[in-house]
Amino acid sequence: MFPILVFAATTLGQSLLSDNPLEARQNNGPANTEIVAVDGELFTQSLRIETTQPGGKRSDASASWTNTTAIAASERIRVSFSVRKTAPADRFNIRATLRLEEAGTAPILDTVFPINTPIWTFYAFDLTAPKAYDPGTLALRLLHGQGPQTYEIGDLQWTRQPALPALSAEGEPVAPIGDWDRSTSYFDGTSGGGSARIVTAEGPGFTQAMRITTNGPSTVISRAALTWPLSRATVRNDVMHASFWVRRISSSTSAIQATAIVERNGGTFSKSLQISLPVETDQWQRFQMPFRMDDNYAPGGALFRFQFGGGPQVFEIADAKLLHYGTRATLEQLPVEFTYPGRNTVDATWKRDALSRIEADRKIDLSIRVVDPAGNPVKGATIAVQQLSQAFRYGSAITAGGIVGTTADDAQYRSRIESHFNTIVFENDLKWPFWEASNSFPQSRTRNAIRWLEDRQIPMRGHVLVWPSWRNTPADLPNLSPEALRTRIDNRIRNVLTDSGVAGKLYHWDVLNEPYDNFDIQGRIDGVSGVPASQGKLGNEEAIRWFELARQTDPNAKLFLNDYNQFESGNVNGVHLSYTYAFLQFLKDRNAPVDGFGFQSHFGTPQSIEVIDTIVKRYADAFPYIFAVSEFDVNTPDEAIQADFTKDFMTYIFSQKRFEDFLMWGFWERRHWLPRGAMYRADWSSKPNAVVSNNLLFRDWWTDLNGESDDEGKLKARVFKGTHQVTVRIGDTIQVLNVDGTTDKEVQIDLP
Ligand code: XIL
Repeated sequence: MFPILVFAATTLGQSLLSDNPLEARQNNGPANTEIVAVDGELFTQSLRIETTQPGGKRSDASASWTNTTAIAASERIRVSFSVRKTAPADRFNIRATLRLEEAGTAPILDTVFPINTPIWTFYAFDLTAPKAYDPGTLALRLLHGQGPQTYEIGDLQWTRQPALPALSAEGEPVAPIGDWDRSTSYFDGTSGGGSARIVTAEGPGFTQAMRITTNGPSTVISRAALTWPLSRATVRNDVMHASFWVRRISSSTSAIQATAIVERNGGTFSKSLQISLPVETDQWQRFQMPFRMDDNYAPGGALFRFQFGGGPQVFEIADAKLLHYGTRATLEQLPVEFTYPGRNTVDATWKRDALSRIEADRKIDLSIRVVDPAGNPVKGATIAVQQLSQAFRYGSAITAGGIVGTTADDAQYRSRIESHFNTIVFENDLKWPFWEASNSFPQSRTRNAIRWLEDRQIPMRGHVLVWPSWRNTPADLPNLSPEALRTRIDNRIRNVLTDSGVAGKLYHWDVLNEPYDNFDIQGRIDGVSGVPASQGKLGNEEAIRWFELARQTDPNAKLFLNDYNQFESGNVNGVHLSYTYAFLQFLKDRNAPVDGFGFQSHFGTPQSIEVIDTIVKRYADAFPYIFAVSEFDVNTPDEAIQADFTKDFMTYIFSQKRFEDFLMWGFWERRHWLPRGAMYRADWSSKPNAVVSNNLLFRDWWTDLNGESDDEGKLKARVFKGTHQVTVRIGDTIQVLNVDGTTDKEVQIDLP
């Protein structure tokens, strides 16, 4: 049961609050707070907070607590609570912020906690104290001065967490990694060749480096490499740690194109480690990465490699080490260090440009005019504009099983979907093999989930009609004759698009997914260097028919091609990208009814926003289509870099008006194909990436403003596109109007 888990997880630490924290609150500003009884939860009381004044600033009212005992520097602390919204009875989020702050200094935690349902929803935030705090000096504060709204906080806990067990073992260096004389270099002649030579270097703790030169350009990263075999045997799940330094000497792109990998020697070349090294300065930059071996390997069965097909470029690598910890360490105990170009550059050009595009393109002028019953302008009326919903769609892949499920976790799952997202996509339920697997993925369950979402007015993307490889389609397909295969595909498209529970209910459909590496059915088009052309079983043109049939069957849905490795490889000339681009051109040239392109955005490692910008421009210049980020995740153990990149990437995408949608590929660790990519941990505590994205969506990109009508009875507001509640007050008269807008708008408020 979920509440028991929460209880157990949060009482481990020692409390920083007094015994009855709800009683011990300090109230400020115009909010009524009272303790009320709670039924059916593991806590029996909650704090009901009601703010009645419409508009106002968030900081106008607050409830606060301070630490009862001292906090040491670097101590890990956690704040957790359950929250629900009780009024007004609409589907909009409360306006509240949680802060941990010492008077006169910047908050060390500052986060919204979206909630729009009466379902008790658990939030927990973990952080490390940046310094020591004497008792009574660090305040935990709930800010909620914007009304009217009523919400309840239960089970408030503020605890110190036990320290992580210290690392007790040393890693054993794996030979011969780092011994430059014993590395093997390889440069494919078709990419211009290159060289690797040992040079003297001055860096922290080393005097030698390997200087790599590639004559490039190449579109395939594996066409140039430096390799060592792992001379020791390793066991699946062994903990390892890779570290090295890199600096750029020169390159044709802003950052060098290189990766570090540990992979199987032969066969599938399955990878235990893969990180890219987008270094763009001549300063030595350190990389450290803990990882686990993906399988058992005999000596020589796995390889450590730097790959750098690309360029032309010159760069140096130094002090490469691979340490073996086996079971003597956990990943969390080992240092992680890497970065991406532009990280933490507050005044980067791309960021300035993005912020001004957001101001220009994601907002409208809302002109409000207040008049009296005789139609005369009313001067001096107080006006609050409060955003209720955002026109830009943000959401996640979800599972129908979670929507209809009955566990406490399922309730948490649904509450977050309702409160955080204004779009979703089914992760698997509508895919062809799943749709036909009636035992494990009953269609009725999917229909019920769709109905639940419809009831809450949450729009849905459709994924995916045809994912054209034998491995991503039902098992009988390879044995069908071409004619029978064509009929089977047509039936599939019609079947799902005309299903009573599905038809007309999804605003986008991915018609075709990943044609670069899913091509058994339609083959690969000609004309992309490094990609042999083929016809598959039905021929290249067949894909056009799928779009046509989808258009005929569901004329209102916007139809998408969807693919990965566009932004993810950080390579403007990547072969996968080049193929996808050419394929989209192929569809466009033949007038296939394509409306949109989905950039999946499954990042293994963050990439330069400037490179991403170049890629977006390239697509935007060539195609008239709408764009979506359709499957975002950042699969890295470094939660700080994950959060920073999430913030930068979301900001950039939100600034590009071609994008109307941003979807993550899952949000909860226990329902995520790459659990490290999630935003909420198994116990529903928030990772840093959850905090940054919620703050962007529900604070930075959310209009809450207050003003007064002028001589003409007017107030001109610049507001985010979406729905806003306008509250006008003069004396005892209050008038409320909801305004929905994506273009400049003038509204008149008639006072009674
Ligand atoms: C993945 C799902 O997340 C997994 O549960 C499933 O086993 C395989 O597919 N690109 C896509 C998605 O278009 O459909 C994939 O989803 C992830 C990669």
